[in-house]
Amino acid sequence: MIRRNPALAALAAGYLFPEIARRRRAFQEGHPDARIISLGVGNTTEPLTPHVTRRLVEAAERLGTRAGYTGYGDEQGLAELRAKIADVLYGGLVAPDEVFVSDGSKCDIGRLQLMFGGGIPVAVQDPAYPVYVDGSVIAGAASRAGADGRYGGITYLPCVAENGFMPDLAALPRDGLVYFCSPNNPTGAVATKAWLAGLVKEAQAKGCIIIFDAAYSEYIRDPALPRSIFEVEGARTCAIEVNSFSKSVGFTGVRLGWTVVPRELAWEGGSPVAADWNRIMTTIFNGASNLAQQGGLAALEPEGRREGAALVAHYMGNADLIAKGLAAQGIASCGGDNAPYLWAAFPGRSSWEVFEEILERCHVVTTPGSGFGPCGEGFVRFSAFGRREDVVEAVGRLVRLGG
Ligand code: MLT
Repeated sequence: MIRRNPALAALAAGYLFPEIARRRRAFQEGHPDARIISLGVGNTTEPLTPHVTRRLVEAAERLGTRAGYTGYGDEQGLAELRAKIADVLYGGLVAPDEVFVSDGSKCDIGRLQLMFGGGIPVAVQDPAYPVYVDGSVIAGAASRAGADGRYGGITYLPCVAENGFMPDLAALPRDGLVYFCSPNNPTGAVATKAWLAGLVKEAQAKGCIIIFDAAYSEYIRDPALPRSIFEVEGARTCAIEVNSFSKSVGFTGVRLGWTVVPRELAWEGGSPVAADWNRIMTTIFNGASNLAQQGGLAALEPEGRREGAALVAHYMGNADLIAKGLAAQGIASCGGDNAPYLWAAFPGRSSWEVFEEILERCHVVTTPGSGFGPCGEGFVRFSAFGRREDVVEAVGRLVRLGG
């Protein structure tokens, strides 16, 4: 018999979101009349916007003609889309050939982990999007979790109320891979430009590479806050950025994202990281869907940008409602002002216990903070991606937590 991949054997438990779905199903089976509302996983619910939909339909029709049919495209994405991302979203801060189009940032994070492999120190914010840790374990960069839930080989950088949910940079490992997400999933905290400049400086001093996850950048309302790490001087020598159309234009199901690998970024010895990323993408990825890429192009046209901004504003309206609803119940929360997630504090309580209580009393699904890391204990996350009427109803039901 073939032995099980020891890296997989090191994984502690199932992935967070299927576990939440399993608990939701179990509750529904026991309470068939309950109308459960999900403010759990960050899954978009609004339809695709009209301009983008029109362009997708036109693109599908073209594919149905001999003249308009295309098969495989460049693995790195359509040249036109790469140029538009560089121009419209980065204002020329990155070059088109540094943009690698993909089927989403989560998938790119997995492929990046393959590129870095095992045997390197990894640092994550704690709490963090679970893919950073679980993917690192699968890639062989970590050993089994101890009794405290922390994997060996991973440096957990506590992000707690006392430090404004921004980690202590002195704790960055030497020559390591550092994950940083801003606007943050799950806390909703957003790094200022000055803070990111400190991160870049520390990464340079320690020989680290940062994977900067900017999937929620379009949710930044404050114009002073940076949407990309490449707004910071020096980032081109120490950072990779991943981003996605999922949350900005509702492409969670359409699937489209991108990764920026600057040409200055180099390995020890000087060889360019971008060359290896290109090798990986051309080997195990066959390019993003040609239809999805046409949708991405439409989303970056002026009309698509206006529609996307309205969509984001709509979800942020949900975030405002949730924030007010939590405050009305005396539940302290942060986030939700420049991010679609609210991080609600239940000090001294277990996150899963609070998750169960909200599910049982309010029939509302949230995400337990401890699922994002040990420092998430005592919190639950509310997502603003529900339908408006569901958010209104869910917020109204929070009053049941009082009794
Ligand atoms: C979430 O945290 O809810 C996830 O971000 C969903 C996703 O993978 O995008």
